[in-house]
Amino acid sequence: MQHTVTLIPGDGIGRETTGAMQQIVAAAGADIAWEVADAGAECMDEHGTPLPESTIEAVKRNKVGIKGPTATPIGTGFRSVNVALRKTLDLYVCLRPVFSIPGAGGRYDDVDLVIVRENTEDLYAGIEFEEGSPAALELIDFIDAQGAGSIRKDSGISIKPISVTATRNIVDYAFQYAVKQGRHKVTAAHKANIMKHSDGLFLREAREVAKGYAGRVDFDERIIDAFCMNMVMDPSQFDVIVFPNLYGDIASDLAAGLVGGLGIAPGANIGKDYAVFEAVHGSAPDIAGKNLANPTAEILSSAMMLDHLEEHGAAERIRQAVRAVYAKGEHLTGDIRRATDSVGAVATTTEFTEALVKELELL
Ligand code: NAI
Repeated sequence: MQHTVTLIPGDGIGRETTGAMQQIVAAAGADIAWEVADAGAECMDEHGTPLPESTIEAVKRNKVGIKGPTATPIGTGFRSVNVALRKTLDLYVCLRPVFSIPGAGGRYDDVDLVIVRENTEDLYAGIEFEEGSPAALELIDFIDAQGAGSIRKDSGISIKPISVTATRNIVDYAFQYAVKQGRHKVTAAHKANIMKHSDGLFLREAREVAKGYAGRVDFDERIIDAFCMNMVMDPSQFDVIVFPNLYGDIASDLAAGLVGGLGIAPGANIGKDYAVFEAVHGSAPDIAGKNLANPTAEILSSAMMLDHLEEHGAAERIRQAVRAVYAKGEHLTGDIRRATDSVGAVATTTEFTEALVKELELL
């Protein structure tokens, strides 16, 4: 069956990684019609905005999108194109599976966990008050008058909203995901001991939602700082982990670092109506246009997209071929050569992709 998918190449290495991804999806036998749409800093000249309405409409029309990284130009009214896209389409789940790929330079061989990050609120809600602005000073006076605490007058302020609604939605998604994927445990990470009305609410609601899954999926909770230490020392103890937005963002990169780095970390932003898949990494301006980017993260994101489209055979073939290329270790991009301290030629994006196509042809 043919599926139409909105493809947003994005900025920097985006064209290279999404180009490689399109080749691999075709080689895996999936029939995808790509509708290309613009977003990011590089489309400013043409559209006058880093997030054209036509791009949002294209995702809405096709229901499924896959994107390369997007940078956000300063002074466009957007704090982040990604945050705006996730909010506009209500992509409230950020899903990031993290697993060891032998040969990819991971610190452990047995990592197999899934990060479920709330995507719409927390400190990323974008509600901020500039230091010295009338609104910031008024807010400082209000907080003082409430007896809630004193804030230095020369402070900038970012608001951290955590709602019952968003928390219940994200924790429920984590449990549903665990049930569907045959996973056994959901861990909630928080700092409820300090931030009682935001993280405290998150933990309270997580415990409530967990009760509905008692006997089917275990529930576990960790304070975020202890979680980081536990994760670095023994990631095998984790299964599905659910986070408020900011901790989830940081933990994703930490987890990616344990299995070989950003070059191999895939992800998805999922809502009730739409889904947009994307690598965890950014536009990597330092290597953009040099044919040096590792397209694995984007390619593994496409495998997640194919699973979402019920094209499980093609998705599994892609994962198998990726594992084979890393196991052989002959065509590794520079980031992986550095992570593995291995000698041998550094493969270009093109060479890596060709090796992957060859593996797919053998399957
Ligand atoms: P980055 O992820 O682009 O780069 C960090 C480091 O990792 C760089 O040394 C880069 O060369 C390397 N790297 C990243 N992806 C790689 C790949 N596939 N292969 C090989 N090496 C890779 O993070 P940075 O520099 O903080 O952000 C650059 C831009 O990307 C910023 O404008 C940022 O806002 C944007 N960004 C966009 C994201 C998205 O669209 N989802 C996510 C993160 C950042």
